[in-house]
Amino acid sequence: MTTRSRVAVVTGAGSGLGAALAGEFARSGCGVALADIDLANAEKVTEGLATTGARTRAYRVDVGSTESLEALAAAVAADFGACHVLCANVGVQQFGTIDSLREEDWRWIYDVNVHGSVGTVRAFLPLLRASEGQRSVLFTASTSAVYPARRLVAYTSTKYAILGIAETLRLELGEEGIGVSVMLPGPMATTHLQSSAAAKPDGLDTPVFVAEQIAVVSEDTAEDTADGADAMISPEYAARNVVADLAANEPYIVSHFVHAGRARTRFAEILDAFERAKTSETPRNEP
Ligand SMILES: NC(=O)c1ccc[n+]([C@@H]2O[C@H](COP(=O)([O-])OP(=O)(O)OC[C@H]3O[C@@H](n4cnc5c(N)ncnc54)[C@H](O)[C@@H]3O)[C@@H](O)[C@H]2O)c1
Repeated sequence: MTTRSRVAVVTGAGSGLGAALAGEFARSGCGVALADIDLANAEKVTEGLATTGARTRAYRVDVGSTESLEALAAAVAADFGACHVLCANVGVQQFGTIDSLREEDWRWIYDVNVHGSVGTVRAFLPLLRASEGQRSVLFTASTSAVYPARRLVAYTSTKYAILGIAETLRLELGEEGIGVSVMLPGPMATTHLQSSAAAKPDGLDTPVFVAEQIAVVSEDTAEDTADGADAMISPEYAARNVVADLAANEPYIVSHFVHAGRARTRFAEILDAFERAKTSETPRNEP
């Protein structure tokens, strides 16, 4: 076992963005631990990385379970001896309105997206702290973390939570020299809806989406990119700058120029509210 080379851990590495991130880290010379609830897919991705020459290994994990995350961290510590880059990338999708979703649906998406991301960091913190050299945590949020869309209240609110967790941990872990970044991907051509349905525990039978909900979300998110390019990109394209951005400890990593107008409108409205409060303030030293 050597701890000299850098090691990246990626959750949700069996598919989509996680698989693309694992590829970027492997090509950059890192050893990579690829974890997913679907072990067969994680193994397939691992096999596909053989040509990079990087040391890779696939693991099964359910990020909705603290025990499963702790077992993963122990296995990675035993196999790789270090963790320099930790990607809490798993996120599931659940369309619906506040009252059409059942309490169990809400609990599931929060367990996986929010508690799963927090649990991933909690499980790996001892190994991150014990590893030498530059260390980074990368959370996967979404452009959904900066503007809302109807029918996505559950998913959107989990991504807002991840943004808050990432921004706060950037302050706290930064004191220990551990960088924290958050990725805000726009639409990517992945199997997100299918893998969310497959990862849903037995007994939760609310569909992940129905066609009517997709149509409403599309209405709220329809927006051209600056150059008229397709809003939908490949996960490989989305991951293209991540190694460099983590090396530079960038706080935010955006996949492509889409939905910037909606983000700008939201931030402008928040700043306007501050300005309105300022102009209506009585001088604070007056009774
Ligand atoms: N696809 C998009 O348009 C899009 C846009 C913005 C953000 N994202 C985010 O990107 C991240 C990756 O999604 P993706 O689009 O690559 O989807 P994907 O389906 O290709 O990959 C997600 C992976 O997570 C795994 N997974 C699901 N539940 C799990 C669990 N409980 N424990 C461990 N693994 C689990 C799945 O098996 C799958 O391999 C997610 O956080 C998602 O919310 C996706």
